Amino acid sequence: MQKILIQLDTDDQPAAFDQVVAVDAGADRILSYGGINENNVEALVHGAIFTRGPADLNNTAIFVGGSNVAAGEQLAQRVAQTFFGPMRVSLMMDSNGCNTTAAAAVVAAKKHLELRGTTALVLGGTGPVGQRVAQLLAGECCKVRLASRSKERAAAACNRIVEGHKVERPEPVAASTTKESLAAAKDVDLLFAAGAAGVCFLSDGCLASIDSLKVAVDLNAVPPTGVSEIEATDKAVDRNGVLCYGALGVGAGKMQVHKQAVRQLFQTNDRKFGTEEIYHLALEMAGLQR
Ligand SMILES: NC(=O)c1ccc[n+]([C@@H]2O[C@H](COP(=O)([O-])OP(=O)(O)OC[C@H]3O[C@@H](n4cnc5c(N)ncnc54)[C@H](OP(=O)(O)O)[C@@H]3O)[C@@H](O)[C@H]2O)c1
Repeated sequence: MQKILIQLDTDDQPAAFDQVVAVDAGADRILSYGGINENNVEALVHGAIFTRGPADLNNTAIFVGGSNVAAGEQLAQRVAQTFFGPMRVSLMMDSNGCNTTAAAAVVAAKKHLELRGTTALVLGGTGPVGQRVAQLLAGECCKVRLASRSKERAAAACNRIVEGHKVERPEPVAASTTKESLAAAKDVDLLFAAGAAGVCFLSDGCLASIDSLKVAVDLNAVPPTGVSEIEATDKAVDRNGVLCYGALGVGAGKMQVHKQAVRQLFQTNDRKFGTEEIYHLALEMAGLQR
């Protein structure tokens, strides 16, 4: 029986990126729908769950994507609410690559550092990727500082993280200039730059000035990078005593996790891949444990 991935995209035009990854992950057919939201998704979910018998539903799966992460979260929730009893298919949500990117970034750091008890700073921490990085770090018992240009936005993101998870609340900080970012990075072991594309937080020479810093991950590939000393292609490159990862250095791991998650969607009809599940998969693939 053919493996069918139903791509539900909140953007009008379904992302070619997610289609290509699905093909590479072994999906036989991809049925792509754009402009999908909570109000028009039900019939599509019914189409997924009422066509093949329960014993064959592992051959159908749903992927939720699109550029708007909040809309993707709501859509995935609505999809899950439409399932009942055995009438369900596996579901993955990775709008804008938020979950796979955050998972791959934290796993890259965990390869080098025991995360429990370490202090981490997430610059640009209010975005979909930064917030998930902070959530995963908090789940690893890191002491997390979450930075934004606005302390109120940082505090709101910290509140969202503790709402759904039994983790210590990250500390909200206001930081975006190099001076503010350096002050926020005092005594940190680990640093993530998760600001918008082209936003630079730390200029040349900063890495060496953070004495405690061991690992730095910059997720912004668009020049100038988030930490100007980090090249987008860096993958465990030692720069002034700090092990550095750039966006493309993390990207390879992200792609592997994305593909593996899509493959696993077809193992049973009840898998759910959100932030935590994708992180667990990324850990498993790296031979690590939480
Ligand atoms: N490597 C990969 O595979 C991969 C995949 C997906 C995304 N990414 C990259 O990961 C990064 C984070 O993605 P995202 O979608 O979470 O980003 P985003 O939502 O576009 O931006 C993250 C945060 O950056 C801050 N920001 C925006 N403009 C700023 C400015 N001019 N100065 C300082 N801060 C600014 C905002 O926080 P405040 O307004 O609260 O300050 C925003 O919440 C991006 O660079 C993205 O390109 C990489």
